[in-house]
Amino acid sequence: MNITDRITAARATLEKAGQGHVFKHIDSLDDSGRRILLEQVESIDWPEVARLVKSHVLNKPVFELPGDVKPAPWYPYTPPANLKNKYAQAGQLGEQLVREGKVAAFTVAGGQGTRLGWDAPKGTFPATPVRGQTLFGCMAEYLLKTREKFGVNLPWYVMTSPVNHVPTLEFFESQNYFGLGNETVKLFPQAMMPAIDMKTGKALLESPSSLALSPNGHGGSLKALWTSGAIADMKKRGIEQISYTQVDNPIVRVIDPLFIGLHALDRAQMSSKMLPKREPLEKLGNFCLVDGKMTVIEYSDLPDELAHERLPDGSLRFLAGSIALHVIRVDFVERLNTSSDGFALPFHRAEKKVACLDPATGQPIKPDKPNAVKLETFVFDALPFCDASIVYETSRSEEFAPIKNADAPGNTGVLDCPATSKQLQVNRAAKWLEANGVKVPRKPDGTVDAVIEIPHTTATEPGDLATVKLPGSIDPGVKIVI
Ligand code: UD1
Repeated sequence: MNITDRITAARATLEKAGQGHVFKHIDSLDDSGRRILLEQVESIDWPEVARLVKSHVLNKPVFELPGDVKPAPWYPYTPPANLKNKYAQAGQLGEQLVREGKVAAFTVAGGQGTRLGWDAPKGTFPATPVRGQTLFGCMAEYLLKTREKFGVNLPWYVMTSPVNHVPTLEFFESQNYFGLGNETVKLFPQAMMPAIDMKTGKALLESPSSLALSPNGHGGSLKALWTSGAIADMKKRGIEQISYTQVDNPIVRVIDPLFIGLHALDRAQMSSKMLPKREPLEKLGNFCLVDGKMTVIEYSDLPDELAHERLPDGSLRFLAGSIALHVIRVDFVERLNTSSDGFALPFHRAEKKVACLDPATGQPIKPDKPNAVKLETFVFDALPFCDASIVYETSRSEEFAPIKNADAPGNTGVLDCPATSKQLQVNRAAKWLEANGVKVPRKPDGTVDAVIEIPHTTATEPGDLATVKLPGSIDPGVKIVI
């Protein structure tokens, strides 16, 4: 089809979806502007946008708590006596799957990271306390150590977005793929959705030749894995399991054989790690069984009285919080994408400030309060599609030091920021050293009196330090890399 015919077809689609204004200026654009806008418009499912404008923009979707909601069971971090054998078996199976090269690492890094205020892909943020190793670097070093320990070069797929794809690629190239080899690291972008004006339900334009687009949520990874050819590539390499992580956590276990093994032993399609919530309303999704199906109910949707319910031993009834770590079978992603009934994750509404052309005046504006609805899908909404799914508890101090927010002046009061993450990394390093007989200086209040970093190339777990030449003690106040 030539460009004029394509524009005519796209215009008809837009008009049918009530979004004809998007092409208002197309005739006055130069050739390149016209092509950019046309390609953007053609990449979007406008009948779906029209449905979502009604259900999620002009109306706010109301969450209805299903009748049959129970807390989901989980495997505890430390196995009780009756599960010791199963954990041993799972650990062996997970290791075997890793050694046989049947596992791939997968990181979702398509988010815009606006809260952190870092003007580059989030994975390029310097995260560690001494070397300032980047978030991507921490994960790459984990994979280098996995290669050394298990004698296998596991591929690493990284989902970007059209907004950060090129800078992410350039970053990996500038770092020479951290020594992993460019055949090992595969980058692919996710799809985008238009931001919609909250008042009128019209798609916002960023400029006359561009929609205001944003990534379609990490749920978009399940489609992008398929459309990008990543699943086909995995199948060619004999990969069976995908170890899914977010980009924001420098101490995440990128590959966790025990978790993978428990998931595989129970023949689960998609499984999750959980942390026990610190308090009833901690902002983590809740692992539930809804009509017997594994489901995450958002913290904002779980009624307060359920969130506060306690068991006779005083613990929260809905204790298991989601930290967005999963293992997913390759054939599950394939099944979702090829099923004859199609597969659609529900969209969620997020109210955001979006710089755009004012729909009324056509002038560029930078709003100071939310003017737009962004529409995103979440990966955990695929859990109810599973026939089997497990939840495995992890340890906050061992595996969760996320960087989400910018540091506050004076480093006080903000959680999940670079300062809190670095402290958590130091605490973990100190614990690992002490477990290996090193004397670590501590202040009277018990906090570590040194800045210690253990790169993942040195150790991904305390046992790895057994073969490392360690100092007998660390001097107070020093900065040290082990
Ligand atoms: C997420 C989880 C929250 C969990 C927390 C743990 C959701 C809705 N919330 O919150 O339950 O407790 O992590 O750290 O999942 N991303 C994409 N494409 C997108 C959007 C996001 O790749 O379109 C990626 C980001 O790059 C990041 C991850 O998804 O790696 C999380 O994104 P973010 O939106 O920041 O979720 P959180 O609010 O951190």
